[in-house]
Amino acid sequence: MNSSIRNRIVALGVVFFSGIVLHAQPVADKQTSVTTSLNGNWNVIIDPTDIGEWRQVWLEQTPKNKTDFFEYSFDGGPTLPVPGDFNSKRCELKFFEGTVWYRRQFSFHPQKDKRLFIRFEAVNYRANVYVNGKKIGSHEGGFTPFQFEITADIHDGQNTVVVKVNNSRSANGLPGMGYDWLNYGGITRDVSLVETGNTFIDDYTVQLKKDAPNIVMATLQLNGAMKEQNIEIKIPELKISHRGRTDANGSATLEFKGAVERWTPQQPKRYQVILKSETDVIIDTIGFRNISIEGNNVLLNGKSIFFKAVNIHEEQPMKAARAYSKEDALVLLQAAKDLGCNLVRLAHYPHNAHMVKEAEKMGLMVWSELPVYQHIQFSDSVVPQKMERMLTEMIRRDKNRCGIVVWCLSNETYPSTPNRTNALIELTKKCRELDSSRLIVHVTNSQQYEGNTFKISDPLYQFSDIVALNEYIGWYIPWQGKPTDTKWSIAIPNKPVFISEFGAEALYGNNDLPGDIAGNWTETYQAQVYKNQIEMFKTVPNLCGVSAWLLFDYQSPGRMHPTFQHGYNRKGLISEKGEKKKAWYSMRDYFTNMK
Ligand code: GCU
Repeated sequence: MNSSIRNRIVALGVVFFSGIVLHAQPVADKQTSVTTSLNGNWNVIIDPTDIGEWRQVWLEQTPKNKTDFFEYSFDGGPTLPVPGDFNSKRCELKFFEGTVWYRRQFSFHPQKDKRLFIRFEAVNYRANVYVNGKKIGSHEGGFTPFQFEITADIHDGQNTVVVKVNNSRSANGLPGMGYDWLNYGGITRDVSLVETGNTFIDDYTVQLKKDAPNIVMATLQLNGAMKEQNIEIKIPELKISHRGRTDANGSATLEFKGAVERWTPQQPKRYQVILKSETDVIIDTIGFRNISIEGNNVLLNGKSIFFKAVNIHEEQPMKAARAYSKEDALVLLQAAKDLGCNLVRLAHYPHNAHMVKEAEKMGLMVWSELPVYQHIQFSDSVVPQKMERMLTEMIRRDKNRCGIVVWCLSNETYPSTPNRTNALIELTKKCRELDSSRLIVHVTNSQQYEGNTFKISDPLYQFSDIVALNEYIGWYIPWQGKPTDTKWSIAIPNKPVFISEFGAEALYGNNDLPGDIAGNWTETYQAQVYKNQIEMFKTVPNLCGVSAWLLFDYQSPGRMHPTFQHGYNRKGLISEKGEKKKAWYSMRDYFTNMK
């Protein structure tokens, strides 16, 4: 279940119980979910040697007699804000990769015939969750929501939740051992208690049926004992109401004609959609659009579209911290709008739900991506399982967000890595099973660039709806000829081609040094790379879009030049202080002057 929707129910629930529901919707009288936030300052124990496991700190033992003592305590120790990463909050944690134990005490009074869940919007990277000293569950993956039922574990009165968070990198992790960003650890997104009825709407999809332009398809899944229930879906603005009944598994699918106005970047139309069962009600705001490939074109609602895109990491540039809030999302997304974008590539992992929701409201299409990044141990049998679970969690959270038009399943993995292509082909099939309504893409940079010619032949592109490639000609690789003379040899012909990354580094304001030398990190050099790239785009066959790498300078510990980088990747079009570099203007002009 989606807590942000639950929050909306709480709000509307109040409205309903104060008026609408008691008169109009008797079904919602019976049950709906109530969300209680556990955000705030949590006590923490910083555990660099992971000895807290041996000391069983989740038991919070205290001395029982004069000779007892315990070499840990949450009381009297530091606190950390939740949501939020821990790296940016304490100087000793800046580059910390290890264990931090979090503890939150709260009082709760469970109601009869109710169920209780604890939900985490994200914890990076591993989480072990304990309630009142008992291990409830574990989760791996730093960027997707998870929850545990704690109905049987909650006390009437005082309760304690302890979370062991560990952000150490691992060879069979997603991402693996190598990545070009500060992989902020912590309880990085919201935490809440969700109290539901015994049977509630646990999952649902509402979208246009693929290849059936005006048919709305809604699926609904109940969770609980009362499997067979009458259900109803309503779109009040269109005076649409359709009823059905869930089967013995608690599932139902409704299809109905709906003359819905399409969501577009220019007109991001969305509708209030109400899904009701006999014991629950869900209210969501949903847009409807079609995205498809026709020959070598990408079509949005049947019309050819060019992706004017920029890459964004989930970092609040002015705070040098993991972005997590609606305000953070608005800073990042408004900067993309100002650049003239119609799509944001949320690199290289699923961003927080605010980014997706606010982008949809602003008319920005979204490219959502798994952290299957470069060095992945595809031959380890647990890795395909982890990829599939993370994919499922990403799709389950966002499948009703019409702004998402691309699921990207990998970035710059290597054809030479054992089992890489086979594992990603299987993942692509799984993605198509889960959601065939969006483009499914893999990004590579396995192309050769010789004699001013790009030779593209990665076998993965046969399974990717578009040929998406990262290239840094003019930065990592010098030009081998005039940009407008660039040639292309693409083994998979007639697919749309998307330049998913290009760019160069520059330190904002650094313009006194000669501007024709890469190693001076000047704005002039970066701007020239952009001008040459824009010239080269004219030569790309079937070009369906470009995405600059990237919007803001961001923290990456491997960027170690003391004069120009200071631990930042400086390919931003804007500095981390919000200062626009010369290249920003080239990119903005390219996007805004495009027909
Ligand atoms: C790669 C990669 C990015 C990285 C960028 C760079 O293409 O996808 O994550 O940050 O290049 O080198 O700056």
